[in-house]
Amino acid sequence: MTGLTDDQIEGLRADTPGCGPDHVHFNHAGASLPSRQTLAAITDHLRLEARLGPMEAGALAAEGVAKARAAAATLLNAAPGEIAFATGGSVAWGMAVASLPPLRAGDRVLVGRQEWGGNLTTLHDKAARAGATVEVIPSLEDGRVDADALAGLIDDRVRLVSLTWGAANSGLVNDAAAVGRVTRAAGVPYVIDAAQVVGQIPVDVAALGCDMLKAPGRKHLRGPRGTALLYVRHDFLDKVAPAWLDVQSAPWNSPWGADHSPVSPRDDARRLESAEASVALLLGLGAALNLALDLGVAAIRARIHHLAQELRARLDAIPGVTIRDIGDPETRSGLVSFTVDGLTGSAVRTRLADQGLTLGANGVPYTPLDMTARGLTEIARASVSYLTREGELDRLANAVAGLTP
Ligand SMILES: Cc1ncc(COP(=O)(O)O)c(C=O)c1O
Repeated sequence: MTGLTDDQIEGLRADTPGCGPDHVHFNHAGASLPSRQTLAAITDHLRLEARLGPMEAGALAAEGVAKARAAAATLLNAAPGEIAFATGGSVAWGMAVASLPPLRAGDRVLVGRQEWGGNLTTLHDKAARAGATVEVIPSLEDGRVDADALAGLIDDRVRLVSLTWGAANSGLVNDAAAVGRVTRAAGVPYVIDAAQVVGQIPVDVAALGCDMLKAPGRKHLRGPRGTALLYVRHDFLDKVAPAWLDVQSAPWNSPWGADHSPVSPRDDARRLESAEASVALLLGLGAALNLALDLGVAAIRARIHHLAQELRARLDAIPGVTIRDIGDPETRSGLVSFTVDGLTGSAVRTRLADQGLTLGANGVPYTPLDMTARGLTEIARASVSYLTREGELDRLANAVAGLTP
């Protein structure tokens, strides 16, 4: 085993209430299991709020929230002023994209084939209202976005390139840096949905060349639900006009109205953040971020990659089971997608849940373009974490073998 030692893993499992004997969690791509420390950071603060009053407790926690922001920045190789917190991945993505200049008739938006369904719906809606178009960037043979083809598509009507970096319906991980080289050269805004990447694969926003990037806290970071990170490149801020403003995103500092000039929002990523937030959850997210930094995402990545490859090999050996992962095998994530002959993905999930194994399932709406391109209607998703034991892979493979005709 590479990266983290077995002793370390056992210690981390002992610190994770969800790693009990009753069930095995294989839905880290949906939401992972928080550590005891993350749980304590949340519940301690909720108790403090109840005792002192939420505003008073919040003032005491300001430094903790600032540390969480600094940890998020370190994780992404960004500056703290380039990080905004949000309440979910789609909220962060929606705020980011809503802040860009409105689309006009004839404008073009380019997306990868793995684009998350919610992003796609938003873009289609905006485009349809404006008379603009959403176009799919051609894929390489292995399904990843073809950056050379993207370069050939760029013209002065392209307003945005949106890339879902890690697919939600397979282990495919796009070459987001190759896409960034094209968008940077063309001066086109580039937004990355890194929901399936942050926390399990090292992220360096400078190397990616992106303008904005988001991820929820609850997946491989093992943070709480209801949290998300949004990176906004500092030099891109002048293009970011928030869809709405509040006392934090644009503090009142001058009378307005007389000259009809627009308000100037803050000079950092928090122009996209709401003043009202769950401080408890942000402190929990901070604990999760610190754990990821302590372990090192490169070490996490090595272990997850090894476990996922092992699981693919075990499932692939079962007659009636088809692995549905595409992309470059060396860069795949910890998400293992498969189908079982004669069963829908949801049925696989339900039958395995009855045996104490928690999986996900993915239908067309989550990843419409890729599922449709491959003629798939539903897949089962088993996603591993560094917390996963090798023995648990055997347990899952045996249970899946028991489902086959
Ligand atoms: C790639 C991707 N994008 C977006 C989302 C949606 O994020 P959220 O549920 O936090 O809004 C998900 C959720 O699984 C996802 O996998």
